[in-house]
Amino acid sequence: MRAVGVDLSVKQLDKARERWPGVDGMELHEADALAYFEDTVAVFDAVYSVFGAAWFTDPGLLLPAVHANLKPGGVFAFSQRPPVEGCYGCQASYIPRGPDEDPAVVKRWDYEPAVWEAILKEQGYADVSASVIDAPPGSRRTGTLFVRGVRGIRGVRGSS
Ligand SMILES: C[S@@+](CC[C@H](N)C(=O)[O-])C[C@H]1O[C@@H](n2cnc3c(N)ncnc32)[C@H](O)[C@@H]1O
Repeated sequence: MRAVGVDLSVKQLDKARERWPGVDGMELHEADALAYFEDTVAVFDAVYSVFGAAWFTDPGLLLPAVHANLKPGGVFAFSQRPPVEGCYGCQASYIPRGPDEDPAVVKRWDYEPAVWEAILKEQGYADVSASVIDAPPGSRRTGTLFVRGVRGIRGVRGSS
Protein backbone atom coordinates (compact mmCIF):
# COMPACT_ATOMS: atom_id res chain seq x y z
CA MET A 1 0.00 0.00 0.00
CA ARG A 2 1.15 3.54 -0.72
CA ALA A 3 0.28 6.19 1.86
CA VAL A 4 0.91 9.87 1.17
CA GLY A 5 0.93 12.57 3.84
CA VAL A 6 0.80 16.26 2.97
CA ASP A 7 1.22 19.13 5.41
CA LEU A 8 2.52 22.70 5.29
CA SER A 9 4.26 22.13 8.62
CA VAL A 10 7.67 20.47 8.84
CA LYS A 11 6.98 19.80 12.54
CA GLN A 12 3.88 17.77 11.69
CA LEU A 13 5.76 15.78 9.07
CA ASP A 14 8.53 15.08 11.62
CA LYS A 15 5.87 13.81 14.05
CA ALA A 16 4.63 11.40 11.35
CA ARG A 17 8.18 10.12 10.77
CA GLU A 18 8.61 9.58 14.53
CA ARG A 19 5.28 7.80 14.86
CA TRP A 20 5.74 5.50 11.85
CA PRO A 21 9.49 4.96 11.44
CA GLY A 22 10.56 2.84 8.47
CA VAL A 23 7.08 2.19 7.09
CA ASP A 24 7.31 0.94 3.53
CA GLY A 25 5.20 2.85 1.05
CA MET A 26 4.82 5.99 3.18
CA GLU A 27 5.77 9.28 1.57
CA LEU A 28 5.49 12.72 3.08
CA HIS A 29 5.33 16.07 1.31
CA GLU A 30 5.82 19.53 2.74
CA ALA A 31 3.22 21.24 0.59
CA ASP A 32 -0.06 23.01 0.38
CA ALA A 33 -2.68 20.30 -0.10
CA LEU A 34 -4.45 22.18 -2.90
CA ALA A 35 -1.19 22.67 -4.82
CA TYR A 36 -0.33 19.00 -4.23
CA PHE A 37 -3.62 17.77 -5.72
CA GLU A 38 -3.48 20.22 -8.61
CA ASP A 39 0.04 19.02 -9.51
CA THR A 40 -0.26 15.29 -8.84
CA VAL A 41 -1.21 12.56 -11.27
CA ALA A 42 -1.82 9.98 -8.53
CA VAL A 43 -5.20 8.31 -8.12
CA PHE A 44 -6.22 7.53 -4.55
CA ASP A 45 -8.58 4.97 -2.99
CA ALA A 46 -9.17 7.37 -0.12
CA VAL A 47 -8.21 10.87 0.95
CA TYR A 48 -8.72 12.10 4.47
CA SER A 49 -8.05 15.26 6.39
CA VAL A 50 -8.18 15.29 10.19
CA PHE A 51 -8.74 18.86 11.38
CA GLY A 52 -6.41 19.71 8.48
CA ALA A 53 -6.25 21.21 5.01
CA ALA A 54 -9.93 20.54 4.23
CA TRP A 55 -10.86 22.91 7.06
CA PHE A 56 -8.42 25.63 5.98
CA THR A 57 -8.90 25.59 2.19
CA ASP A 58 -11.73 27.02 0.09
CA PRO A 59 -13.97 23.98 -0.54
CA GLY A 60 -14.84 25.39 -3.97
CA LEU A 61 -11.19 24.73 -4.90
CA LEU A 62 -10.21 21.71 -2.78
CA LEU A 63 -13.29 19.51 -3.32
CA PRO A 64 -12.90 19.36 -7.14
CA ALA A 65 -9.11 18.93 -6.84
CA VAL A 66 -9.52 15.91 -4.53
CA HIS A 67 -12.39 14.52 -6.63
CA ALA A 68 -10.20 14.56 -9.73
CA ASN A 69 -7.60 12.43 -7.89
CA LEU A 70 -9.96 9.77 -6.49
CA LYS A 71 -10.59 6.35 -8.03
CA PRO A 72 -14.20 5.54 -8.95
CA GLY A 73 -15.78 4.73 -5.61
CA GLY A 74 -12.92 6.46 -3.79
CA VAL A 75 -13.75 8.26 -0.58
CA PHE A 76 -12.93 11.76 0.65
CA ALA A 77 -13.51 12.12 4.39
CA PHE A 78 -12.65 15.02 6.64
CA SER A 79 -13.21 16.18 10.18
CA GLN A 80 -13.17 19.52 11.90
CA ARG A 81 -14.85 21.32 14.75
CA PRO A 82 -18.56 21.95 14.24
CA PRO A 83 -19.48 25.51 13.23
CA VAL A 84 -20.28 28.10 15.84
CA GLU A 85 -23.99 28.92 15.52
CA GLY A 86 -24.50 31.88 13.18
CA CYS A 87 -20.88 31.92 11.93
CA TYR A 88 -20.86 30.24 8.54
CA GLY A 89 -18.70 30.38 5.42
CA CYS A 90 -15.13 31.66 5.44
CA GLN A 91 -14.00 32.67 8.94
CA ALA A 92 -10.68 34.41 9.69
CA SER A 93 -8.68 34.31 12.92
CA TYR A 94 -5.62 36.29 13.97
CA ILE A 95 -3.06 34.02 15.64
CA PRO A 96 -0.50 35.89 17.81
CA ARG A 97 3.13 35.22 16.82
CA GLY A 98 5.08 37.39 19.25
CA PRO A 99 5.50 41.00 20.31
CA ASP A 100 7.49 42.03 17.20
CA GLU A 101 5.55 40.15 14.56
CA ASP A 102 2.19 40.71 12.99
CA PRO A 103 -0.26 37.97 13.86
CA ALA A 104 -0.77 35.17 11.34
CA VAL A 105 -4.12 35.20 9.56
CA VAL A 106 -5.74 31.77 9.34
CA LYS A 107 -8.88 31.24 7.28
CA ARG A 108 -11.19 28.30 7.75
CA TRP A 109 -14.50 27.21 6.27
CA ASP A 110 -17.38 26.35 8.60
CA TYR A 111 -20.83 25.14 7.58
CA GLU A 112 -23.67 23.19 9.14
CA PRO A 113 -23.80 19.48 8.16
CA ALA A 114 -26.69 19.89 5.69
CA VAL A 115 -24.81 22.66 3.89
CA TRP A 116 -21.66 20.52 3.64
CA GLU A 117 -23.77 17.76 2.10
CA ALA A 118 -25.16 20.20 -0.50
CA ILE A 119 -21.67 21.55 -1.29
CA LEU A 120 -20.24 18.05 -1.82
CA LYS A 121 -23.17 17.07 -4.07
CA GLU A 122 -22.70 20.26 -6.10
CA GLN A 123 -19.06 19.24 -6.66
CA GLY A 124 -20.05 15.81 -8.01
CA TYR A 125 -19.66 13.68 -4.87
CA ALA A 126 -22.12 10.83 -4.28
CA ASP A 127 -23.26 9.05 -1.09
CA VAL A 128 -22.49 12.18 0.91
CA SER A 129 -23.02 12.42 4.63
CA ALA A 130 -22.17 15.00 7.26
CA SER A 131 -22.90 14.86 10.95
CA VAL A 132 -21.60 15.93 14.32
CA ILE A 133 -20.20 13.09 16.41
CA ASP A 134 -20.67 13.66 20.14
CA ALA A 135 -17.65 14.39 22.28
CA PRO A 136 -16.36 11.37 24.21
CA PRO A 137 -17.49 11.09 27.83
CA GLY A 138 -15.78 13.70 30.02
CA SER A 139 -15.93 17.40 30.68
CA ARG A 140 -15.65 18.59 27.06
CA ARG A 141 -18.84 19.07 25.10
CA THR A 142 -17.66 20.05 21.62
CA GLY A 143 -18.10 17.18 19.20
CA THR A 144 -16.49 16.55 15.82
CA LEU A 145 -18.02 17.38 12.47
CA PHE A 146 -17.42 14.45 10.12
CA VAL A 147 -18.03 14.83 6.38
CA ARG A 148 -17.72 12.14 3.75
CA GLY A 149 -18.36 11.71 0.01
CA VAL A 150 -17.58 9.25 -2.77
CA ARG A 151 -16.28 10.08 -6.23
CA GLY A 152 -19.25 10.44 -8.52
CA ILE A 153 -19.43 10.76 -12.29
CA ARG A 154 -18.76 14.50 -12.72
CA GLY A 155 -15.41 16.22 -12.31
CA VAL A 156 -13.14 13.45 -13.58
CA ARG A 157 -9.99 14.83 -15.21
CA GLY A 158 -10.29 14.88 -18.97
CA SER A 159 -14.08 14.35 -18.98
CA SER A 160 -16.70 16.99 -19.64
C1 LIG B 1 -5.17 21.71 13.69
S1 LIG B 1 -3.74 20.98 12.92
C2 LIG B 1 -4.21 19.30 12.87
C3 LIG B 1 -3.06 18.39 12.70
C4 LIG B 1 -3.36 16.88 12.74
N1 LIG B 1 -4.15 16.45 11.60
C5 LIG B 1 -4.00 16.48 14.03
O1 LIG B 1 -5.18 16.09 14.03
O2 LIG B 1 -3.33 16.54 15.06
C6 LIG B 1 -3.98 21.56 11.27
C7 LIG B 1 -2.91 21.08 10.31
O3 LIG B 1 -3.34 21.39 8.98
C8 LIG B 1 -2.22 21.82 8.25
N2 LIG B 1 -2.70 22.60 7.11
C9 LIG B 1 -3.52 23.67 7.14
N3 LIG B 1 -3.76 24.12 5.91
C10 LIG B 1 -3.07 23.29 5.06
C11 LIG B 1 -2.94 23.25 3.65
N4 LIG B 1 -3.54 24.12 2.87
N5 LIG B 1 -2.17 22.26 3.13
C12 LIG B 1 -1.54 21.37 3.92
N6 LIG B 1 -1.63 21.37 5.27
C13 LIG B 1 -2.40 22.32 5.83
C14 LIG B 1 -1.41 22.63 9.26
O4 LIG B 1 -0.08 22.79 8.87
C15 LIG B 1 -1.55 21.80 10.50
O5 LIG B 1 -0.55 20.83 10.60
